[in-house]
Amino acid sequence: MIVTIDGPAGSGKSSTAKALSRNINWFYLDSGALYRTWTLLYLMGGGDEQAFKDVIDIHDVEMKVEGTDVFPVLNGEEVGNEIRAQHISENVSRVAAMDRVRERVNAEMRRLVKKHNFVADGRDLGSVVFPEADVKFFMTANLEERAQRRFREMHKAGQKADLDQIRDNIKDRDEADSSRATAPLIKPEGAINIDTTGLSFDEQVEKIEQILREKLNLS
Ligand code: DC
Repeated sequence: MIVTIDGPAGSGKSSTAKALSRNINWFYLDSGALYRTWTLLYLMGGGDEQAFKDVIDIHDVEMKVEGTDVFPVLNGEEVGNEIRAQHISENVSRVAAMDRVRERVNAEMRRLVKKHNFVADGRDLGSVVFPEADVKFFMTANLEERAQRRFREMHKAGQKADLDQIRDNIKDRDEADSSRATAPLIKPEGAINIDTTGLSFDEQVEKIEQILREKLNLS
Protein backbone atom coordinates (compact mmCIF):
# COMPACT_ATOMS: atom_id res chain seq x y z
CA MET A 1 0.00 0.00 0.00
CA ILE A 2 1.07 3.56 -0.57
CA VAL A 3 0.08 6.85 1.05
CA THR A 4 1.34 10.03 -0.63
CA ILE A 5 1.96 13.44 0.89
CA ASP A 6 2.73 16.16 -1.65
CA GLY A 7 3.33 19.83 -1.00
CA PRO A 8 5.76 22.74 -1.27
CA ALA A 9 9.16 22.97 0.43
CA GLY A 10 8.97 23.37 4.19
CA SER A 11 5.28 22.49 4.51
CA GLY A 12 6.21 19.84 7.07
CA LYS A 13 5.49 16.88 4.85
CA SER A 14 8.80 15.07 5.41
CA SER A 15 8.75 15.20 9.20
CA THR A 16 5.04 14.35 9.22
CA ALA A 17 5.47 11.45 6.79
CA LYS A 18 8.36 10.15 8.89
CA ALA A 19 6.39 10.26 12.15
CA LEU A 20 3.31 8.83 10.52
CA SER A 21 5.17 5.90 8.98
CA ARG A 22 6.68 5.12 12.38
CA ASN A 23 3.28 5.25 14.10
CA ILE A 24 1.64 2.86 11.66
CA ASN A 25 4.73 0.67 11.15
CA TRP A 26 5.25 1.41 7.49
CA PHE A 27 8.39 2.53 5.67
CA TYR A 28 9.07 6.17 4.85
CA LEU A 29 10.01 7.14 1.29
CA ASP A 30 11.58 10.58 0.83
CA SER A 31 11.44 11.26 -2.92
CA GLY A 32 13.15 14.65 -2.49
CA ALA A 33 16.22 12.79 -1.15
CA LEU A 34 16.52 10.99 -4.48
CA TYR A 35 16.44 14.31 -6.38
CA ARG A 36 18.94 15.74 -3.92
CA THR A 37 21.27 12.78 -4.50
CA TRP A 38 21.11 13.27 -8.27
CA THR A 39 21.92 16.93 -7.58
CA LEU A 40 24.96 15.92 -5.56
CA LEU A 41 26.19 13.97 -8.57
CA TYR A 42 25.43 16.93 -10.87
CA LEU A 43 27.53 19.24 -8.69
CA MET A 44 30.32 16.68 -8.34
CA GLY A 45 30.56 16.84 -12.13
CA GLY A 46 30.97 20.63 -12.03
CA GLY A 47 27.36 21.59 -12.74
CA ASP A 48 27.58 21.26 -16.52
CA GLU A 49 24.04 20.36 -17.59
CA GLN A 50 24.89 18.63 -20.88
CA ALA A 51 27.82 16.69 -19.42
CA PHE A 52 25.55 15.53 -16.59
CA LYS A 53 22.75 14.47 -18.95
CA ASP A 54 25.27 12.38 -20.92
CA VAL A 55 26.25 10.35 -17.85
CA ILE A 56 22.91 9.92 -16.04
CA ASP A 57 22.48 6.38 -17.29
CA ILE A 58 25.88 5.15 -16.16
CA HIS A 59 25.12 6.08 -12.54
CA ASP A 60 22.79 4.64 -9.95
CA VAL A 61 20.79 6.45 -7.32
CA GLU A 62 18.80 4.03 -5.20
CA MET A 63 17.04 3.80 -1.88
CA LYS A 64 18.48 1.16 0.36
CA VAL A 65 16.22 -0.54 2.93
CA GLU A 66 18.09 -1.65 6.04
CA GLY A 67 16.02 -2.69 9.04
CA THR A 68 13.50 0.12 9.41
CA ASP A 69 15.79 2.65 7.68
CA VAL A 70 15.41 3.75 4.08
CA PHE A 71 18.22 5.95 2.77
CA PRO A 72 19.67 7.07 -0.56
CA VAL A 73 22.85 5.58 -1.99
CA LEU A 74 24.85 6.92 -4.93
CA ASN A 75 26.57 4.14 -6.86
CA GLY A 76 26.27 1.98 -3.75
CA GLU A 77 27.63 4.60 -1.31
CA GLU A 78 25.47 6.16 1.40
CA VAL A 79 25.29 9.94 0.82
CA GLY A 80 24.38 11.06 4.36
CA ASN A 81 23.51 14.59 5.38
CA GLU A 82 25.43 16.30 2.58
CA ILE A 83 22.28 16.28 0.42
CA ARG A 84 20.58 18.68 2.90
CA ALA A 85 23.18 21.44 2.44
CA GLN A 86 22.18 24.81 1.02
CA HIS A 87 24.15 24.41 -2.25
CA ILE A 88 22.13 21.27 -2.98
CA SER A 89 18.83 23.09 -2.21
CA GLU A 90 19.89 25.87 -4.58
CA ASN A 91 20.45 23.50 -7.52
CA VAL A 92 17.89 20.76 -6.94
CA SER A 93 15.01 22.35 -8.88
CA ARG A 94 17.20 22.51 -12.01
CA VAL A 95 18.08 18.83 -11.74
CA ALA A 96 14.52 17.80 -10.82
CA ALA A 97 13.28 19.49 -14.01
CA MET A 98 15.27 17.04 -16.19
CA ASP A 99 13.00 14.39 -17.67
CA ARG A 100 15.57 11.59 -17.52
CA VAL A 101 16.22 12.24 -13.83
CA ARG A 102 12.49 12.14 -13.13
CA GLU A 103 12.15 8.85 -15.02
CA ARG A 104 14.98 7.30 -12.99
CA VAL A 105 13.55 8.52 -9.67
CA ASN A 106 10.04 7.34 -10.52
CA ALA A 107 11.28 3.89 -11.60
CA GLU A 108 13.18 3.56 -8.33
CA MET A 109 10.13 4.50 -6.26
CA ARG A 110 7.84 2.12 -8.15
CA ARG A 111 10.36 -0.68 -7.61
CA LEU A 112 10.35 -0.04 -3.86
CA VAL A 113 6.60 -0.01 -3.32
CA LYS A 114 6.30 -3.48 -4.82
CA LYS A 115 8.05 -4.81 -1.72
CA HIS A 116 6.80 -2.76 1.23
CA ASN A 117 4.09 -0.40 2.48
CA PHE A 118 5.21 3.21 2.23
CA VAL A 119 4.27 6.69 3.32
CA ALA A 120 5.95 8.75 0.60
CA ASP A 121 6.39 12.49 0.30
CA GLY A 122 7.20 14.72 -2.66
CA ARG A 123 5.74 17.04 -5.28
CA ASP A 124 4.12 14.78 -7.87
CA LEU A 125 3.54 11.49 -6.07
CA GLY A 126 -0.25 11.59 -5.97
CA SER A 127 -0.54 13.21 -9.40
CA VAL A 128 2.04 11.39 -11.55
CA VAL A 129 3.98 8.62 -9.81
CA PHE A 130 1.23 6.93 -7.79
CA PRO A 131 -2.11 8.25 -9.08
CA GLU A 132 -3.73 5.09 -7.65
CA ALA A 133 -2.34 5.70 -4.12
CA ASP A 134 -4.53 4.40 -1.30
CA VAL A 135 -4.73 7.82 0.35
CA LYS A 136 -3.33 11.15 -0.94
CA PHE A 137 -2.63 14.29 1.05
CA PHE A 138 -1.65 17.79 -0.05
CA MET A 139 0.11 19.74 2.70
CA THR A 140 0.55 23.50 2.70
CA ALA A 141 1.58 26.29 5.10
CA ASN A 142 2.32 29.96 4.53
CA LEU A 143 5.79 31.00 3.30
CA GLU A 144 6.99 32.60 6.54
CA GLU A 145 6.12 29.57 8.63
CA ARG A 146 7.76 27.24 6.15
CA ALA A 147 10.98 29.31 6.14
CA GLN A 148 11.05 29.38 9.96
CA ARG A 149 10.60 25.63 10.15
CA ARG A 150 13.39 24.91 7.67
CA PHE A 151 15.64 27.36 9.55
CA ARG A 152 15.03 25.60 12.87
CA GLU A 153 15.55 22.20 11.25
CA MET A 154 18.93 23.16 9.77
CA HIS A 155 20.00 24.93 12.96
CA LYS A 156 19.15 21.84 14.99
CA ALA A 157 21.14 19.66 12.60
CA GLY A 158 24.15 21.94 13.17
CA GLN A 159 24.06 23.28 9.61
CA LYS A 160 24.78 26.86 8.55
CA ALA A 161 21.42 28.60 8.17
CA ASP A 162 20.32 32.10 7.19
CA LEU A 163 16.59 32.83 7.43
CA ASP A 164 16.45 35.36 4.56
CA GLN A 165 18.38 33.05 2.28
CA ILE A 166 16.14 30.11 3.20
CA ARG A 167 12.98 32.17 2.59
CA ASP A 168 14.25 33.29 -0.83
CA ASN A 169 15.24 29.75 -1.75
CA ILE A 170 11.85 28.31 -0.73
CA LYS A 171 10.08 31.02 -2.75
CA ASP A 172 12.25 30.37 -5.80
CA ARG A 173 11.75 26.62 -5.51
CA ASP A 174 7.97 27.03 -5.16
CA GLU A 175 7.94 28.98 -8.40
CA ALA A 176 10.31 26.63 -10.24
CA ASP A 177 8.62 23.44 -8.99
CA SER A 178 5.11 24.74 -9.75
CA SER A 179 5.84 26.11 -13.21
CA ARG A 180 8.04 23.41 -14.73
CA ALA A 181 6.71 21.60 -17.80
CA THR A 182 7.07 18.06 -16.45
CA ALA A 183 5.17 16.96 -13.33
CA PRO A 184 4.72 20.38 -11.72
CA LEU A 185 3.73 20.73 -8.08
CA ILE A 186 -0.07 20.67 -8.01
CA LYS A 187 -2.73 19.39 -5.66
CA PRO A 188 -3.35 15.85 -6.97
CA GLU A 189 -6.87 14.83 -7.91
CA GLY A 190 -8.58 13.32 -4.91
CA ALA A 191 -5.96 14.59 -2.44
CA ILE A 192 -7.03 15.74 1.02
CA ASN A 193 -5.87 19.28 1.71
CA ILE A 194 -4.04 19.86 5.01
CA ASP A 195 -3.04 23.43 5.86
CA THR A 196 -0.54 23.22 8.72
CA THR A 197 -0.15 26.99 9.32
CA GLY A 198 -0.49 27.48 13.06
CA LEU A 199 -0.55 23.77 13.85
CA SER A 200 2.08 22.26 16.10
CA PHE A 201 3.99 19.29 14.78
CA ASP A 202 2.07 16.86 17.02
CA GLU A 203 -1.23 18.37 15.92
CA GLN A 204 -0.46 17.96 12.23
CA VAL A 205 0.66 14.35 12.65
CA GLU A 206 -2.42 13.58 14.72
CA LYS A 207 -4.72 15.15 12.16
CA ILE A 208 -3.33 13.15 9.25
CA GLU A 209 -3.03 9.95 11.24
CA GLN A 210 -6.66 10.14 12.28
CA ILE A 211 -7.82 10.53 8.68
CA LEU A 212 -5.53 7.74 7.55
CA ARG A 213 -6.60 5.24 10.18
CA GLU A 214 -10.20 5.91 9.31
CA LYS A 215 -9.68 5.60 5.54
CA LEU A 216 -7.54 2.47 5.73
CA ASN A 217 -9.42 0.87 8.58
CA LEU A 218 -6.27 0.61 10.67
CA SER A 219 -6.84 -0.09 14.35
O1 DC B 1 11.29 17.66 -0.45
P1 DC B 1 12.63 18.35 -0.73
O2 DC B 1 12.62 19.81 -0.41
O3 DC B 1 13.79 17.61 -0.14
O4 DC B 1 12.79 18.23 -2.33
C1 DC B 1 13.89 18.75 -2.99
C2 DC B 1 13.53 19.13 -4.41
O5 DC B 1 13.27 17.97 -5.19
C3 DC B 1 12.31 20.03 -4.59
O6 DC B 1 12.65 21.40 -4.61
C4 DC B 1 11.75 19.61 -5.92
C5 DC B 1 12.26 18.22 -6.14
N1 DC B 1 11.22 17.20 -6.02
C6 DC B 1 10.44 16.97 -7.12
O7 DC B 1 10.58 17.64 -8.14
N2 DC B 1 9.51 15.97 -7.10
C7 DC B 1 9.34 15.23 -5.99
N3 DC B 1 8.43 14.24 -5.99
C8 DC B 1 10.12 15.48 -4.83
C9 DC B 1 11.04 16.49 -4.87
